[in-house]
Amino acid sequence: MKVTVVGAGNVGATVAECVARKDMVKEVVLIDIVEGLPQGKALDMQESAPIHLFDTRVKGTNDYADTAGTDICVITAGLPRKPGMSRDDLLAKNASIVKSVTEQFAVGSPNAIIIIVSNPLDVMTYVSYITSGFPSERVMGMAGVLDTARYRAFLSMELGVSVKDIQALLMGGHGDTMVPLPRYTTIGGVPVTELLDRERIGAIVDRTKTGGGEIVKLMGTSAWYAPGAAAAEMVEAIVKDSGRVLPAAAWLSGQYGLDGLFIGAPVRLGAGGIQEVVEVELTADEKALLDESAQHVRANLASLERLQRA
Ligand code: NAI
Ligand code: 2OP
Repeated sequence: MKVTVVGAGNVGATVAECVARKDMVKEVVLIDIVEGLPQGKALDMQESAPIHLFDTRVKGTNDYADTAGTDICVITAGLPRKPGMSRDDLLAKNASIVKSVTEQFAVGSPNAIIIIVSNPLDVMTYVSYITSGFPSERVMGMAGVLDTARYRAFLSMELGVSVKDIQALLMGGHGDTMVPLPRYTTIGGVPVTELLDRERIGAIVDRTKTGGGEIVKLMGTSAWYAPGAAAAEMVEAIVKDSGRVLPAAAWLSGQYGLDGLFIGAPVRLGAGGIQEVVEVELTADEKALLDESAQHVRANLASLERLQRA
């Protein structure tokens, strides 16, 4: 199998490294517009192979011909947030970057599965879907795996338990309106609602929602270790056809009462991409939060359409 990562910046390089270290594909191609950057990072990663013990070949390039025949492509190209910026402030610039890289990539890899990372996530996934013309099961966005990882990390810190025993579900768009679901969060099979009071859970949910911004404030740009690992986990589920149930920005066509947009929902991932959007029951309050998040994604889509018409 061949994996391409578009954008050799902080997130892209981390995705490439995480995928290579899993030693599960023949080749990882890292591509960027900056000359020398993907080549240098790829060579550095390749030189770590005898230490990390992987046989995956890592190639850096500025030429889409090298990406031909890719099975899975992770798109991270685009601007990251700076302090004071929301993900939505990146809309116009990143839409033109995601459109252009999707066009160039799709020519040589018409059967690939695309995982979008560039922000604002849910709308950029839509842009790549429309541009590529790929079926919806082969286009998805990475956000939920990252957001649930943050949520699970905070719960583990609060409770002093292993992250390995924390299962959680989070839905909605990748923004401050995301919807962590404590009712579907368990610690070793025990609902978190039995272990923490409402206030503590509420504080952890709020920290999760603003988790990306917390890191931007600390270091002046957005995160990459957890985002890179999260995208690589989705790649692994597809490569291994594992059927893992993970949250991803998926095309909804009636599920959860939503239609015609990409938004975070639990999906079964495996060969071919999204094998199923998994539907779970939501309470009226949870559904209202999901609808509010969907409204936010739709407002972003409308802003993009306005920008494109202007
Ligand atoms: P970065 O600035 O470190 O890297 C972006 C890379 O994209 C740069 O190397 C740049 O040269 C490249 N690039 C720009 N235009 C390109 C083009 N047309 N073709 C190929 N490469 C191009 O940024 P970073 O931190 O890696 O973030 C990348 C994107 O991922 C941002 O939009 C950020 O907001 C988003 N992000 C999304 C997350 C998520 O959960 N979905 C989490 C973290 C970041
Ligand atoms: C994050 O959540 C900014 O989307 C990026 O870290």
